[in-house]
Amino acid sequence: MKKTAIFSSIILLLIVSTAFIHLFNESDRPTPIPPSKQRTGDSAKGYNYLTTGDFLKSGVPYNYFLMLNGKDKKNYLQRTGKNANVGHDYNVVTNADGIDIVIPTCLQCHAQVFNDSLYVGLGNSMMDFSNISKQNNFINNTAVKAMQTFSPKSYNAVKPLLTAFQAVYPSMETEVRGVNAADRLAALLVAHRNPETLVWSDEPLLEIPEGSIPTDVPAWWMLKKKNAMFYNGFGRGDFGRFLMLSNILTVKDTAEAAEVFTHFGDVLAFIKSINPPKYPHPINKEMAAAGETIFIDNCSKCHGSYGTNESYPNLLVPENIVQTDSLLFRANYQNAQFIDWFNKSWFAQGEFAARLQPSSGYVAPPLDGVWVTAPYLHNGSVPTLEAVLNSKMRPTYWSRTFDNKDYNYAQVGWNYKAQTAPDGKKYYNTTLPGYGNYGHTFGDKLSNKERKAVIEYLKTL
Ligand code: HEC
Ligand code: HEC
Repeated sequence: MKKTAIFSSIILLLIVSTAFIHLFNESDRPTPIPPSKQRTGDSAKGYNYLTTGDFLKSGVPYNYFLMLNGKDKKNYLQRTGKNANVGHDYNVVTNADGIDIVIPTCLQCHAQVFNDSLYVGLGNSMMDFSNISKQNNFINNTAVKAMQTFSPKSYNAVKPLLTAFQAVYPSMETEVRGVNAADRLAALLVAHRNPETLVWSDEPLLEIPEGSIPTDVPAWWMLKKKNAMFYNGFGRGDFGRFLMLSNILTVKDTAEAAEVFTHFGDVLAFIKSINPPKYPHPINKEMAAAGETIFIDNCSKCHGSYGTNESYPNLLVPENIVQTDSLLFRANYQNAQFIDWFNKSWFAQGEFAARLQPSSGYVAPPLDGVWVTAPYLHNGSVPTLEAVLNSKMRPTYWSRTFDNKDYNYAQVGWNYKAQTAPDGKKYYNTTLPGYGNYGHTFGDKLSNKERKAVIEYLKTL
């Protein structure tokens, strides 16, 4: 009798102490990210700056740009003047020498044509970084050589952009189309810049790590709920500093950076003003209501609740729980020099400073407008919501048409074809490092009927 009592109290002690350790081991359980102070601004001015402003001071001279690309016919943003003649993802601005130049904007990656309409803030999942070095052949174009000889001012206008492109393009390629290489772009650019002065160096100042890590592009309308930026939640402090990070493509010095920075309170205000588009087809109300109950029981603790009493817990979910492809957050430890560069750079100084704070996991994102943001997970490895909720359905190799109307409103996501083997860079290949589609198995325990109901509910967000 006594022996069993001692035995069971030892067991009890063991259970209690492991629970205790668990409770205090932060990296083992979802942890809330605290808010940091943000600047306020004028959203109309922010929109205006994004769609007409000169946050890059180097670009392709307007005349040369039209010669190479022709006039844009769509004018999705309904802009006037020279801006009406270039795509929605370029601005025409006048540089210090009085030359009109065309600069690539945030909307290259943060706007997408869906069903023939442009959605500003929707992550662009149509881009092709898989053969980027071939696409940007204007680098050696005769037009550039002609500029050099006949119009030194035009050549000077494009030179910083060309220099940066030439340095980064050869090592920016992704393994498939539809994933984004912005993180790679940032890592390559900072390697060429002095952190304190931001001045360009032709020779890289940091060792360049191998490989481009693929990501999807998060929708801008989620940012208003977030306490930290990026999939890994490592963007802390002032969001405006991160928002202007693409300025390092061509920035001359910190005086230019400081001028550009003054606009980013407004840009943040604009980004926070964006709402997701509404699901465009009828929704089964009864099913959605049943789905909401299932969602509250199984998903809300990480993804929050929606509707009148909205809440969002801002949880960083550690690897041992979410179990999705870890290459993206691991790179922050393997390539710590990027974090070091940032945290001692101009971006981390002064009032409204930002900092990078890596961790081993991913933020559970808000699910507002999730119906339109396929493909899913941080690396865009899963084509539909149906497959997010049922991990056995996820295709190992898959293709889509990249037609912006080819959407599936039942499975919710891109229509796709499962393939039996990879074919070069043609199909999404989830067996490659960084491209994995495993983990996030929280929907697996639900029945088919329950998953259908949850999907119906997700359409309402
Ligand atoms: C080359 C593509 C590209 C360009 C250009 C670009 N971004 Fe991004 N942006 C991304 C990608 C990819 C991510 C996600 C990276 C990650 O989390 O690892 C991102 C993340 C963000 C986020 C964080 C969203 C969140 O929910 O955490 C914001 C906000 C943002 N970008 C704003 C901007 C602004 C403003 C500009 C222009 C000044 C810009 N971006 C230019 C690709 C781009
Ligand atoms: C323990 C926390 C947790 C639970 C529970 C959870 N999720 Fe998630 N969810 C996450 C994290 C973290 C991610 C981001 C993973 C990644 O991108 O690698 C995510 C991603 C997603 C995405 C992809 C979003 C996108 O835009 O790519 C969807 C959709 C989603 N979850 C739906 C659900 C649903 C529905 C449930 C309930 C059945 C659920 N989740 C339960 C943590 C959770």
